[in-house]
Order: sequence, then C-alpha cells, then structure tokens
Amino acid sequence: MSSNIEEKSNLLEVKKLRTSFYDGKSKLEAVRGIDFTVKKGEVLGIVGESGSGKSVMVKSILGIIPTNAKIDAGEIILDGKHIENLSKKDKRAIRGREIAMIFQDPMTALNPLKKAGDHLVELLIRVRGMKKKEAKNEAIELLRMVGIPSPETRVNQYPHEFSGGMRQRVLIAMALACNPKLLIADEPTTALDVTIQAQILELLKKLQTENDMSVVLITHDLGVVATICSRILVMYAGMVMEEGMAHEIFYSPKHPYTKALINSIPRVDGEKTRLKPIKGSAPSLTKVAKGCPFAERCELAIDKCFTEMPVYKSFSSTQKCMCFLAGEGDKLDG
Ligand SMILES: Nc1ncnc2c1ncn2[C@@H]1O[C@H](COP(=O)(O)OP(=O)(O)OP(=O)(O)O)[C@@H](O)[C@H]1O
Ligand SMILES: [Mg+2]
Repeated sequence: MSSNIEEKSNLLEVKKLRTSFYDGKSKLEAVRGIDFTVKKGEVLGIVGESGSGKSVMVKSILGIIPTNAKIDAGEIILDGKHIENLSKKDKRAIRGREIAMIFQDPMTALNPLKKAGDHLVELLIRVRGMKKKEAKNEAIELLRMVGIPSPETRVNQYPHEFSGGMRQRVLIAMALACNPKLLIADEPTTALDVTIQAQILELLKKLQTENDMSVVLITHDLGVVATICSRILVMYAGMVMEEGMAHEIFYSPKHPYTKALINSIPRVDGEKTRLKPIKGSAPSLTKVAKGCPFAERCELAIDKCFTEMPVYKSFSSTQKCMCFLAGEGDKLDG
C-alpha cells in the first residue's frame, strides 16, 4: 500500500547525481542529475534500455566507476551519512558490509580455481572475523539458505560444477554473507533461462523479507520488475523519466516512454508472442540536446519538447513524471 511505503524511512538518498566519462576533450554524460530514494525494507526496480545509465549510476553509488569516469556532482546519503566523499578505503568497507552487489554474469564473478565454499569462507573470515571452521559451517548454512541442495557436498565443488542458476545462488549467498542493509542486483537474471530467472527472483524476494533488507533490482526488462518490486524508476538517457509504485507504473503510466516500455513487454496474444520494440534509438550522450531526451522518439512530441527540459509533475504522493504532456487530458492519458 502506498501509505505504508511513505511511512518507511529512507535507507539511501541520492540527490542530483551526475557522472560522466571523459575521453580527451569529449565528455559523455552517462548520469544526468538523478534523484531517488530507497526506503528501508523495499524492493525498488530500476528499468531502462541498454545504455540508459543504470549500471553507471549504481557503480557511482558504490564508488566503483572506471578510471575514465568522474562523479561531477551529487549527494549520496546512506542511513543518514554522506558517503559521496569517502576515501577509497572507507568506500570499500561499506561495500559488502552495508551494501552488497550482484552482477549479471555469475561465471566471471567467481574464481574458477577456487571452490564455491572457499569464496564464502574467505569473505566470512575477512569481513566477519570468523575462524576457519566456523566460517565453513556458516558457508554451508548460507548455501542452504539460497536453496542449493546438498550444501555439505556443494561447498567443496568448483564453480564449473554448478549450473548458471546455482552459480548465481552462490553469488547471492556471498552478497548476504555480511548481512548488508542494501542489496543491489544489476541484471541478476539476464543470463539465465526464464524458469531459473523466476526462481532467482523468488529467492531474492524471500531473502529480502526474511532479512528485512532493501533491494535495488536493475533490469532492462519491465516484466522482471513486475514480479517483485513495490516501486519502480524508469530511466532514459541518464535521467529518471518516471517514478511510481509498481501498480501506478503498470496500470497508470504517465510518460510516453514508460508506455512504450510496457507495450514492448512480450505478451502472449492468442497463440503468438508479440514483441513491439520502441522505434528509434537512444540519443547521443556526448552532445546532449536541450530538450526532453525522449523527444526524438516520441510520437506525441510538440515543439517545446525539443527545446526545453520538462520539469517533474506529481500525479500522487508516490508517482511523478517528466513530460510536458502528461496529465494534460490529451491522448497521452488514454
Ligand atoms: N567504461 C566506459 N567508458 C565509456 N563510456 C561508458 C563506459 N561504461 C559505460 N559507458 C557509457 O555510459 C552510458 C551508460 O551505460 P550503462 O552501462 O550505465 O548503461 P545500462 O543502463 O547499465 O545499460 P545495460 O542495460 O546495457 O546494462 C552508455 O552510453 C555507455 O556507453
Ligand atoms: Mg548495465
């Protein structure tokens, strides 16, 4: 319920975040002034096409952007403490203990020469200060918790002995090993089969509830967020186009881009599965236009969409959208 979510306090606040890549004289504006919050105990979905800045944004929060990138501006507040200007050492301490992250490709994140359990054991010794024997037992418990059958045997096996879905479970176990307050999952199921995807999402939701964690789930697939997210941010070209509770985004979307994304979810139509891609391609981020970044692709764009940046309009206490035409009683509301 939306009233519930408003009562929850903020775990993470991101204000006016801007991150760019620098290559000689050229600048690519990957994240262009993003504001959002993650409440305690909520699952926030972040959706947007490839290149919309989702990964750069969360890497900025974690302090793991590549060396050719720079945070130009913004504030990042975790549990009331500013973390944007922390030293590398202090940021590293936050990663794992307070914020954990899981990425798309479970194979590259695991060392193929190291047993699955040893990944966990080392982490538990380093971060939670456990002794080896205790860490091994805890590793088995963590594997059990993420639904890996026969964890006593599995703990001694190597990553290649696990399926893709099971490897992703090992990574989730690693992320949870330190009881983080926030888990950021960047496309955690993209590399997996659809049925395995569903199992992993179910697992994330279960663990989130049991551990009262907050989760940020990033995906380019709106269908994925529908199953477990209570609130959704829709990103485009480094900006948030729309934000709202899941039911607002799905049943009452306001932004033409959100609508196009919803229409592009594959749906079973009679016997056919239809996919309606959004026409056109994302704008250049090296020469950003003055107006709305979606204007070039928007079938409803009017002149000022190309010359002026729309400001956010609120549609409820939880839903806002950046579009001149939204809520104007025109065909956009149809
Ligand atoms: N290492 C890099 N050097 C230069 N530009 C980069 C680098 N990494 C990302 N970018 C650019 O930053 C922008 C945002 O990229 P980002 O990876 O955050 O997108 P994304 O929304 O995560 O996409 P995807 O869904 O494909 O993961 C893109 O224009 C991308 O080309
Ligand atoms: Mg990404």
